[in-house]
Amino acid sequence: MRIVLLGAPGAGKGTQCKYIVDRYHLLHLSSGDILRRHRANGTDLGKKAKEYMDSGALVPDNVIIEMMIDEISNAPDGGYVLDGFPRTARQATDLDKALAERKEKIDAVLNLNVNDDVIIRRITGRRICPKCAAVYHVENLKPRKDGICDKDGSKLIQRPDDTAEVVKTRLKNYNEMTAPLVDYYNRKNTVFNIDANEEAEIVKELVFSKLDPLVERVVL
Ligand code: AP5
Ligand code: MG
Repeated sequence: MRIVLLGAPGAGKGTQCKYIVDRYHLLHLSSGDILRRHRANGTDLGKKAKEYMDSGALVPDNVIIEMMIDEISNAPDGGYVLDGFPRTARQATDLDKALAERKEKIDAVLNLNVNDDVIIRRITGRRICPKCAAVYHVENLKPRKDGICDKDGSKLIQRPDDTAEVVKTRLKNYNEMTAPLVDYYNRKNTVFNIDANEEAEIVKELVFSKLDPLVERVVL
């Protein structure tokens, strides 16, 4: 099972991926999380990506495509859910080419739709664990102890690109470069449009209602 999750910054891609991964035992491949891992480890790729990410710009296609095709090539047979990739027309066509060479294809595309005002509230209130990448929200998803990760006790941080100002750039890039991918996938795949304005547990049920019929073996 190979799934692509589309949606604006803060739409809840990472949040829904967690539910999807637990239910269907897929690998979560988040291009943003992988880039942040590179940055934390001080790799050349991480250093290259920093400036783009912090300003809300997209990291150049060739860098991202190489990184993600490499991740996909090493993924287990069970499949994966792609979160944040592809994000441009070239990323989408290069992904399809790489999959075709492996006689594989994308099985489903989920498109999370969220209003801009909801996005701003979600992004500016988000806190993340710098160690395990767990995601929290100051109102919607509080950790048990204020400012501390439930999983490993690390001090939660705000992503440098989660300011109201940078979000505007990210949304603009999303609308110009990523939103057109919905049409691209509509021409060749099944795209499930999900109203993701509701709380996470409700969105989760909508997502499961689309994916359950597609998955042969679901562990309930
Ligand atoms: P990336 O990390 O992918 O950021 P993004 O796409 O902007 O998406 P986010 O992670 O901000 O949002 P999300 O949809 O995952 O929301 P979440 O579940 O956390 O990319 C970062 C940067 O890396 C890019 O700007 C770019 O520079 C670079 N990059 C990455 N991929 C690239 C690519 N392919 N090409 C080029 N450059 C690339 O939820 C947000 C918050 O809301 C959380 O606090 C959560 O708790 C809360 N929340 C979630 N769902 C709900 C709900 N239903 N109700 C209430 N609260 C909710
Ligand atoms: Mg995310």
